[in-house]
Amino acid sequence: MNLTANVPRLGGLRTADAPATGRRPWIEHWLETCRDLNELKASHPMMDAVIDEVDGRMIRIGDHWLADFASCNYLGFDLDREIIEAVPAYLDRWGTHPSWSRLLGSPALYEEIEERLTALLGAEDTLLLPTITHIHMSVIPLLAASGTIFMDARAHKTIYDGCQVARSRGAAVKRFRFEDAGHLDDLLSAERDPTRLVVMDGVNSMTGNAPDIREFARVAREHGALLYVDDAHGFGVIGENPDAELPYGYRGNSVVRHAAETYENVVLIGGFSKAYSSLLAFIACPTDVKDLLKVAAPPYLYSGPSPVASLATVLAGFDVNESRGDALRADLHRMTKRILDCLDRLGVATPNRSGFPIIEVPLRDHTRIAAVGEFLYRRGVYVTLAAFPLVPKNEVGFRFQVTAANTDAEIDRAIAGLEALAELGELRLTTDEVPALGEAA
Ligand SMILES: Cc1ncc(COP(=O)(O)O)c(C=O)c1O
Repeated sequence: MNLTANVPRLGGLRTADAPATGRRPWIEHWLETCRDLNELKASHPMMDAVIDEVDGRMIRIGDHWLADFASCNYLGFDLDREIIEAVPAYLDRWGTHPSWSRLLGSPALYEEIEERLTALLGAEDTLLLPTITHIHMSVIPLLAASGTIFMDARAHKTIYDGCQVARSRGAAVKRFRFEDAGHLDDLLSAERDPTRLVVMDGVNSMTGNAPDIREFARVAREHGALLYVDDAHGFGVIGENPDAELPYGYRGNSVVRHAAETYENVVLIGGFSKAYSSLLAFIACPTDVKDLLKVAAPPYLYSGPSPVASLATVLAGFDVNESRGDALRADLHRMTKRILDCLDRLGVATPNRSGFPIIEVPLRDHTRIAAVGEFLYRRGVYVTLAAFPLVPKNEVGFRFQVTAANTDAEIDRAIAGLEALAELGELRLTTDEVPALGEAA
């Protein structure tokens, strides 16, 4: 079967090859830089899609229904009746949106969330801001001051951008190799600058794995560095005391507790926009750092706050997390395992070693991404396409994010799609060599 036959032809679409007449040179420049992604966006039904309807975790695009594995609503709180029904009472009481910057005033809901979150994490204190991006852009430059930042070479783009802002304010930025605490140790040993900040991801949004937080925390402490961890994907999913019954751990209180680490010299960043389906984010830090941020972090001073509905879904989410969270996580683990077991059976490669619900499936040939995406789309499986330049060419593939709102029938559909793609030879096998960077087929 020729998969390419199903792919819409690029010729008639807006691509970097066919610029609109009279377009400005700087737009041309950036479109050329993002050429692969731009072509995919312009041509592919699984990119920049308009979702017309949702029914559970099924989505409708036009008249085509697909099982959605591209959402990060890991706990399924976006569809949870108890949470949905809690919202109107908050709107009646507080209106739709506070619209003060936090420095001017915050509804009492913020205090309540910070208190409950601090207790859940077991941290000294927490501060809420609208998004993790706001936090990285404002807090990394403050913590780094004019010192040196040691950045995980594969840190999330928003961490990179926060480091760029810090650099423009006088910080130096050095990179350590991904998952390599030994390399960090070497760099810190050779460093003379006394102000050191280590920035990295918790559960990685591409691999689905968590770093060895205990080892990174040990190295950071040994060298007097502050460790700053973004656990956007771990908060709500993984938590304390993992055991055979629940390998994700309990209570969803994030990567530091999952690793049985403490917050000594560790600052944790997390967000509610994934597992909790709400627009809000936090930094867990000592109270004196929180007090500093309240006068020095621009999003606290100037940004608009989260809508009341989001604050309400966080509070209702805490209740559901307490009453049913571990059962949801157990189901999430079970469904994720079904897909991972399928890959194992097929001998298909995935970087996921953790069993956490982010499953990247690399292709044998990165140029096949559009055709493979189209194939899955036609079979009613909606995934995240990881195209170049979002990922290096030798990692191009697609990603499943499993959520507790997925059903076993949807997992069956995903598995059937994987089996068909493996049969067609599109997926990289564990026995294949990974092409070197720049040499990807
Ligand atoms: C690791 C990581 N950090 C930060 C973000 C951005 O989070 P927010 O939408 O809260 O700015 C994301 C979103 O995908 C992420 O994966």
